[in-house]
Amino acid sequence: MTNETIAETSMPDVPEGHGAAQADPDAKPILEVDGLRMYFPVKSSGLVRRTVGHVQAVDGVSFQVPEAGSLGLVGESGCGKSTTGRLITRLYEPTGGSIRFDGRDIAKAKPRELKPLRREIQMIFQDPYTSLNPRQTVGAIVGAPLEIHKVVPKDKVLPRVQELLEIVGLNPEHYNRYPHEFSGGQRQRIGIARALTLQPKILVADEPVSALDVSIQAQVINLLQDIQREFGVAFLFIAHDLAIVRHFCPEIAVMYLGKIVEIGDRDSIYGNAHHPYTQALLSAVPDVRQAAIGGRRERIRLQGDVPSPIDPPSGCRFRTRCPIAQEICARHEPPLMQIGRRHKVACHFPGRLGEAPREPLTTGLLGVDGEGRPDPGASPSNDLVEQPGYADTWFDLDAKSIGRA
Ligand SMILES: Nc1ncnc2c1ncn2[C@@H]1O[C@H](COP(=O)(O)OP(=O)(O)OP(=O)(O)O)[C@@H](O)[C@H]1O
Ligand code: SF4
Ligand SMILES: [Mg+2]
Repeated sequence: MTNETIAETSMPDVPEGHGAAQADPDAKPILEVDGLRMYFPVKSSGLVRRTVGHVQAVDGVSFQVPEAGSLGLVGESGCGKSTTGRLITRLYEPTGGSIRFDGRDIAKAKPRELKPLRREIQMIFQDPYTSLNPRQTVGAIVGAPLEIHKVVPKDKVLPRVQELLEIVGLNPEHYNRYPHEFSGGQRQRIGIARALTLQPKILVADEPVSALDVSIQAQVINLLQDIQREFGVAFLFIAHDLAIVRHFCPEIAVMYLGKIVEIGDRDSIYGNAHHPYTQALLSAVPDVRQAAIGGRRERIRLQGDVPSPIDPPSGCRFRTRCPIAQEICARHEPPLMQIGRRHKVACHFPGRLGEAPREPLTTGLLGVDGEGRPDPGASPSNDLVEQPGYADTWFDLDAKSIGRA
């Protein structure tokens, strides 16, 4: 068994005037994802290529992004974050589930129906070096969507491009330069300008600062925050650690091997995490480590490798690396259970670090006994689980009863 270490990360300094973004609990969702699945076929080698399995890259993911709000999607490499982003922008067609954008299910929208959607859902990519065509000028890159979608007359394209360059903090006179004449941070600003060209309602930002120096990361995050405030655009902000999304996202979803294991508002995730995986990720963030994991300073080092998404573990996918796994964890997948006003967790033994309950809390929901065997006397219930948003009632772990808003 190898020792998997989650790299220690720190939040880039955020200059004054850029406080943490706040959630509006009453905002209506611009994006509602329910039971989203993406299985990539695995083909055999040889002349006749048969499907011999599936990579379960995204497997039953549900969440909401509020209008003009932002949700952070966090997890280790390979957990399905980019695939989720690409499904939402409909670069892929999902295997299953629904994607409601502005009230309409776009999961199975046809190419013709997708064209207008491309204006409203845009993506910012991780690597500013490969995501810009090196042979095109900045003006051509940023102006291309305007020409394709014919949203402004030809003579208005350049003024609009210059306006966008100014918005993202670049010199508007540099529209005729090529990407290689810019630094990494500046290139990412070009990518952001391109994404803003058509005034989208939501931006899927796939690790938009991971390729940049820490000093530049804060500037780009501040720019994204300014853009969000000024234009009211919503964000799905993808990151591989919890440090980056902390100031940007009032709500965070933690993914592991294709599933959301915990989702909640900032206070629930950073100050009251109930899933062992979230606790391990938090322990890699020095400035929140102490508060978030019960005053302990040490890192939680997860044992073992992330299993293959082609043949994920039965029951809870985290069980092969979980320090508190029990028998029921191999038998049943834990449902994503609401445990607070804006907090859900998928674990049979949810609790603060070192305070996990002795008995599984999910038996009533699943209709099983403590080891996960069928309990003929129990009546399974789907209440409190698996909706994209938050219900008005939840299972209050402290009171061991139903909580109400
Ligand atoms: N087009 C594809 N065909 C087959 N498998 C794929 C494809 N795209 C992604 N995968 C697999 O799906 C899983 C999820 O990949 P994805 O890129 O979504 O992860 P990620 O969370 O974005 O990781 P990273 O942090 O490294 O970017 C991985 O096991 C990956 O190998
Ligand atoms: S369900 Fe079991 S294996 Fe999964 S995180 Fe909870 S305790 Fe660990
Ligand atoms: Mg990715």
